[in-house]
Amino acid sequence: MIALWETCGLTKPWNDPDADIDRIQVSRDATILIGTVDDAVVASVMVGHDGHRGWIYYLAVSPDRHTRGHGREMMAEAELWLTARGAPKVQLMVRQENEDAADFYSALGYERQDVTVLGKWLTPSTEAD
Ligand SMILES: CC(C)(COP(=O)(O)OP(=O)(O)OC[C@H]1O[C@@H](n2cnc3c(N)ncnc32)[C@H](O)[C@@H]1OP(=O)(O)O)[C@@H](O)C(=O)NCCC(=O)NCCS
Repeated sequence: MIALWETCGLTKPWNDPDADIDRIQVSRDATILIGTVDDAVVASVMVGHDGHRGWIYYLAVSPDRHTRGHGREMMAEAELWLTARGAPKVQLMVRQENEDAADFYSALGYERQDVTVLGKWLTPSTEAD
């Protein structure tokens, strides 16, 4: 799965995908949905509920399988997962340079929100190291 994320450009030097997966495995409020073909991982989406909103991360479809509806299908499953847990709204972040993803989400009915995302590291980041 991490290989898929790397192929799709979703990992950055300041991300630790192994740690992200470890945290999900002990969480009751988040999961990673995986799409497979012949036991090969070809799609993924991380979905979680923070008690107020649902959040989506790590949506990825193997490049050789793009535009076949897999991304839409993964998002539909993630939305079902959240709906079953009572989340009234789902949100996600798209890196500014990722215009393709923004167009994809737009096709699925996602709208740009009039908010600024703020962040702060609570543990030392790899980038800072
Ligand atoms: C974004 C991504 C998941 C889309 O997956 P996909 O399987 O190719 O998308 P789908 O085939 O399900 O497309 C669903 C809809 O989005 C549209 N769409 C997909 N990619 C698009 C693009 N680059 N530009 C515009 N529309 C796009 C499709 O036309 C389709 O619309 P339709 O159903 O009305 O015809 C895939 O391109 C990917 O893995 N990208 C790299 C990782 C990434 O950027 N993830 C998002 C991080 S925020």
